[in-house]
Amino acid sequence: MRILSGIQPSGKLHIGNYFGMMRPALELAQKGEAFYFIADYHALTSITNPDELRQNVLDVALDFLACGLDPARTVFYRQSDVPQVTELTWILSNVAPVPMLENAHSYKDKIAQGLKPNAGLFTYPVLMAADILIVQGERVPVGKDQKQHVEMTRDIAGAFNRQYGEVFIIPEPSIRPEVATLPGIDGRKMSKSYGNIVEIFGDEKAAKKKIMSIVTDSQPVEAPKKDLDRNVPLQLLKLIAPDKAPEQESKLLAGGYGYGELKKELLAALMDYFAPMRQQREELEKNHDYVHEVLRKGAERANAVADETMRKVRQAVGLK
Ligand code: TRP
Repeated sequence: MRILSGIQPSGKLHIGNYFGMMRPALELAQKGEAFYFIADYHALTSITNPDELRQNVLDVALDFLACGLDPARTVFYRQSDVPQVTELTWILSNVAPVPMLENAHSYKDKIAQGLKPNAGLFTYPVLMAADILIVQGERVPVGKDQKQHVEMTRDIAGAFNRQYGEVFIIPEPSIRPEVATLPGIDGRKMSKSYGNIVEIFGDEKAAKKKIMSIVTDSQPVEAPKKDLDRNVPLQLLKLIAPDKAPEQESKLLAGGYGYGELKKELLAALMDYFAPMRQQREELEKNHDYVHEVLRKGAERANAVADETMRKVRQAVGLK
């Protein structure tokens, strides 16, 4: 089974990204032949500072390798190292209906948020279809917000196949279950745009400050605590250290155990869980050549597959 997914280079990795996207992606990669790429062409629709884009791309590569992506097994590459996808995007544009693109939730949302309606934003789903179809991806793990884009890919592939013959495999989305809406330090969903994240590879002091400032209710230390399913530090602890959480939970229920102590426990669990990855990332920071080499080799493998697909596509449409 060929698995394909793109990752937006959107900034510092936080606990929400890790448990929501990265860990499931790394687990899934064990079950088939995974192609994971850093979506830097897509990022141009939102990042306009070139240094920021370069830095974010490097960060994603370091994050994934530090967290255990195995480059011998997974084809890991930068989207723009496979420029054939832009050619395929053009070809697919000729079978992608405008009304379908006008209906894209993510396009409408971005315009509503004040982004300028440029053509890149509008044809974003066609580029995404090209990413998937160029490597003939069968399973596409994505978050719920990307489901419609994968459905558009299926429509575009179907339209192409009907017009030109069976060239593309129709991919299946595999929608990641929401991680029981992982709360941020203010209790809302953890998200960069809310500024309520806890970073994974930032310094320990910053993490401590974030954790200690998690909002909690005002039940006194002595009280047996109620409403534990709305207790943010406990919810995070359950995710990070499922083996330790029951003990803290009974202490809270018993009373005489305060949130300050609970937060210290959470910080320790966080540092403990991510220690090997933090160390690995520090090593990789000293060896960017290795990281670039991994991406180069990934690109080479992706290019071989892309060239093969493009040969069929050009033949099918009459460009050859
Ligand atoms: N649009 C996806 C996101 O924002 C990233 C992405 C780009 C992608 N191309 C893809 C995901 C192809 C899956 C398949 O998360």
